[in-house]
Order: sequence, then C-alpha cells, then structure tokens
Amino acid sequence: MTDIRVWVDGVLVDADTPAVSAVDHGVTVGDGAFETAKIDAGVPFAVTRHLRRLDRTMAGLGLPPADHGRIRDGIRAVLDGDPIDFGRLRWTVTGGRGPLGSDRHDSDLTHIVTAVPHARPEAQGRVVTVPWVRNERAATAGLKTTSYADNVIALAHAKERGAVEAIFANTRGELCEATGSNVFVVLDGVVHTPPLDSGCLAGITRELVLEWCREDGIEMVEEALPLDVLTRADEVFLTSSIKDVLPVSAVDDRVFASPGPVTSRAREVWARYSGQGIDP
Ligand SMILES: Cc1ncc(COP(=O)(O)O)c(C=O)c1O
Repeated sequence: MTDIRVWVDGVLVDADTPAVSAVDHGVTVGDGAFETAKIDAGVPFAVTRHLRRLDRTMAGLGLPPADHGRIRDGIRAVLDGDPIDFGRLRWTVTGGRGPLGSDRHDSDLTHIVTAVPHARPEAQGRVVTVPWVRNERAATAGLKTTSYADNVIALAHAKERGAVEAIFANTRGELCEATGSNVFVVLDGVVHTPPLDSGCLAGITRELVLEWCREDGIEMVEEALPLDVLTRADEVFLTSSIKDVLPVSAVDDRVFASPGPVTSRAREVWARYSGQGIDP
C-alpha cells in the first residue's frame, strides 16, 4: 500500500499504521461524508464544487460543517512531492469518536485526506443492471455518505459478470444511477439523464456535462425514465470524477456500437471545456 498517501487530522501517516479511533462513528456506523476528485498531472480537479457537495452531505447527515481549510491543508500535504500523473484524491469527514450505536456524542469531526495513483479510464465499458434498488425516499438519498456497502455489493456483482459498473433503478422502477457514476441515455439524438429526485447523487461530472453540453448546443433533458429505457436507448454513457465521460459498450446482453456519435461529441465537449481550468 506504499503508493497511498494518507493524512489524518494534520498528520501524514503511513497507510498501514492505525490513525483513526476504533470508536470513530465513521468506523462503527458509517456516520460520515466523503468526496472523490480526479488528480490529473499532479493537480486536483473541481475541488470547490466537491467541497460544496461535502457541505450538503454533512448538513444532510446533521453533522457540523467540515473545516475546508483543514481539508485544503490535507490536499496540499498528500499532493506534495512526486506529482501523481493520474489518480484519485479522496477526503472523508466523519462524526468523530462516538458511541457504539447510532446515537451521537458531541465530538470533534475526523478529517482524512488520501491520494493514490489510478489507471486512466478505459475507452469504454460494459454495465449490468442489478436486482437491488436505490431508495429515493431514504434519509440519505442523494448524500455521499461513507455507508457505501450497497455499492460494494452491486459493484462486485457487476465485476463477476465482466462489467465495469452496476446500474440501479429506484423504488419506482426508474433509471437512477450506478454505484459510483451517473447515467445518461441518448434517444433520437437527445441526451436524457435522471433528475436528482430519482435518488441519484448530484455528480460533479454530471452537472458539468449538463452545463457544458448545453452551452455547446446539445439538447440535454433531466427527466424520469423507466429502467427499460436501456433496452431501447441509441447510446448510453456514464459520468464520474475518475471516468469522466465513459461510453457504455453493452447493457446486460445488449451490445452497442460504441462510442456512438452523441457520446463522442459529449466526450469532445468535456475534453475541451475541462481543459480550460482546474476548478470550474
Ligand atoms: C453513487 C454515485 N453516483 C454518482 C457518482 C459520480 O459523481 P462525480 O461525478 O461527482 O464523481 C458517484 C461518485 O463516486 C457516486 O458515488
């Protein structure tokens, strides 16, 4: 684990050395928030938007606001030294030391920042739908909490089937999102993506793709779609901080000529606009 750089509450630590309390509420009950941002040529992308989303998750959990200054110190600390050519920057803020159950102590938050090299995204990938659902009415719907076990199970299911992602419907049977990506479908040249009330995460890449593609003249619609839209969509693509815009080459047994023309255009728009600044 030597290539993982870890900073916990002001101190750079070895990744294999325990640095968080065993009774930290993030450890015991998943009471915490996190963000993952891309590192490209040693530099983190869209940190301000990620910090804003962290604030929304902390507020949604009923936790006090995270200390942005501390997180930025941590980011500087883990990115100092040899530049990471491409990688994952992750920060996690938990409720701090707590009881073993779901109630909380009034504790100092735990701030953790990590950085690790990562392979650049593949050119395309297969996805599968999964038998489990996202609950758009859950208390944590749309929050990026450290309780990601549903995603761990679904991603393992996808990987066992040779796929890179697992697609969830919500309890209403609508297309929602993947374990760590948002999903877009192309129907008759128009790009559609589920709205935030589907229960999906407000992906930073999703919001930038919507903004930049609209600016570039691509018709983009946020609307509820049945899950079976995947059986008739002309093209499908995923977005995430690490994948950027990833063309989908197959959904379950349905294979696409990928990347399709609209996805290619969205990728080109992404490359052009994201190249204009590191903190859009
Ligand atoms: C559940 C979920 N949906 C969507 C995304 C994509 O969000 P972003 O573009 O901010 O990485 C993520 C990111 O990891 C995620 O965990």
